[in-house]
Amino acid sequence: MCGIVGYVGPKEAWPILISGLKRLEYRGYDSAGVAIMGDKGLQVSKCKGRVADLEAHVGKKGLKGTVGIGHTRWATHGEPNDVNAHPHTSANGELALIHNGIIENYATLKEELIKRGYVFRSETDTEVLVHLIDDIQRTEGTDLAESVRLALLNVVGAYAIVVVDAKSPDMLVAARKSSPLVIGIGNDGDHFLASDATPIVEHTRNVVYMEDGEIAIIEKEKGLRVRNIKNQELRPSVQALEIQLETLEKGGYDHFMLKEINEQPRSIRDSMRGRLNIAGSEVVLGGIKDYEQKFVNAKRILVVGCGTSWHAGMVGEYLFEEFARIPVEVEYASEFRYRDPVINEDDIVIAISQSGETADTLAAIELAKSRGATIIGICNVVGSSIARITHAGSYTHAGPEIGVASTKAFTAQVTLLTLMALMIGHRKGTIDGARFQQLLLELDAIPAKVERVLKTEAQIKYIAEIYKDARNALYLGRGYCFPVALEGALKLKEISYIHAEGYPAAEMKHGPIALIDEEMPVFVIATQGASYEKVVSNIQEVKARKGKVIAIVTEGDTVVKAIADHTIEIPASPDALVPLLAVVPLQLISYHIAVMRGCNVDQPRNLAKSVTVE
Ligand code: G6P
Repeated sequence: MCGIVGYVGPKEAWPILISGLKRLEYRGYDSAGVAIMGDKGLQVSKCKGRVADLEAHVGKKGLKGTVGIGHTRWATHGEPNDVNAHPHTSANGELALIHNGIIENYATLKEELIKRGYVFRSETDTEVLVHLIDDIQRTEGTDLAESVRLALLNVVGAYAIVVVDAKSPDMLVAARKSSPLVIGIGNDGDHFLASDATPIVEHTRNVVYMEDGEIAIIEKEKGLRVRNIKNQELRPSVQALEIQLETLEKGGYDHFMLKEINEQPRSIRDSMRGRLNIAGSEVVLGGIKDYEQKFVNAKRILVVGCGTSWHAGMVGEYLFEEFARIPVEVEYASEFRYRDPVINEDDIVIAISQSGETADTLAAIELAKSRGATIIGICNVVGSSIARITHAGSYTHAGPEIGVASTKAFTAQVTLLTLMALMIGHRKGTIDGARFQQLLLELDAIPAKVERVLKTEAQIKYIAEIYKDARNALYLGRGYCFPVALEGALKLKEISYIHAEGYPAAEMKHGPIALIDEEMPVFVIATQGASYEKVVSNIQEVKARKGKVIAIVTEGDTVVKAIADHTIEIPASPDALVPLLAVVPLQLISYHIAVMRGCNVDQPRNLAKSVTVE
């Protein structure tokens, strides 16, 4: 939620800030703005809309100056308009500030500042910060860095902020608490700031991930200094980035989402690389090696996540129960953190997050950690907050996912959960050797099978054309495929704005069946496995009420073909691995329906990819 960038160095800041904001647009895209130090003082330009609108607003020449900040917004407080867009400035225009997060006590701070004569122009929570810093500078006579520090002592909430001050024209001050911020250390004496590493990688591979409670002071001459909120100097730890630049481009596809769907044979392979050892009949997850015994002894596993990651967690529940015989509870992070959950020291908590920054998931981890549980992370973004606060974990290695609707991250998360469950089951002896080996071979075959599924795209497009104007849709699945039904429905509503619900197939008769008529497309995952016959009966129930059935079936199926309106074939696979295949046609159908409806597939309305507010 909200992307922020900053630049200090010898080069022109404008092109660096604009291209950085474009990389971060997935974090929010309802307004954008920049503040750049020019010869005659601070120049601020901001407007409603996307980064391209800001470029058009400023004009071809951009703004001149070598120190600046930029912001792309996902509105929390105050509608998306020019005034609420960031940066926010002090009354005299000397201070400008950008913010990602929420200032929870903004109302109290605002009231005090109004009493002190400050006039507020926007409806945002952010504006209090800039007036508060200004007020401290005036009353305490402190420099910018110290004023920011003193201001933050009064702030309750989450923030990543960057401030620029016309009185210190060669400097940026940044701070973080609960919202991410990365500093890039360039080769030409320049420094970059961004919400994640994607705007930085084209300039430098040397980065410092800011920690909670840290304040960074970046100056042209003196370079980077880092302090904590208690004003103690810290030594920043520089790390090397591993992202490849081409993974951040569309690579010939119309949309990132389509590229990412098509990348899945590769991304699933990458998440297994070096971990699946067929010859040695073992699964090796180096990142959690030291915690293997804890897993083996665990009485219970709790899984926390949000959105698509929560759906992957549900597949994980079935996997761990089947292979490792450990009871699993899957929790929405946002619910878990505000209950008083019973957590024991021998509980394992698996936290799943593509971005590694989701505020609710972070808070759920902190709660479970404070009660003594062992936290294992499954994250995609290397160096992200969740990856750093968990005790141990495994990266999914899916590569950057830019489309807001998650696709390849889901299959990579499910792949890792499969590896984990198999590894623990094997160690515990709850899965016998022959079956274990068979499943390793089947898992190894999944990338090639996904490639076969991708070949059904032309047929999927044909089906999309028929149902693109539907107002509602139902998704049904059982067992391992119930979470896939939920994920299919989520994909459709996220990007095409068609109302869709996922349901366990048998539960349909307890409610959703009332909605079925000839207008209602019902997507059913009906592959040959443990509950095949039952699902076939559910399809009959839908057909008896004139619903339209689009079924995902196993290659060669004839039974469902005879009763469904359309079938999409996927290769045969053990039940536990079917989610990795069955989700792909559902991703594609949502994509094509959304494109046909003229929706912005990569940046759907109201959504953001990295949800750093609760
Ligand atoms: C947002 C995104 C979803 C994602 C969810 C959880 O809602 O739009 O695609 O599944 O957040 O994000 P995480 O990064 O924690 O997996």
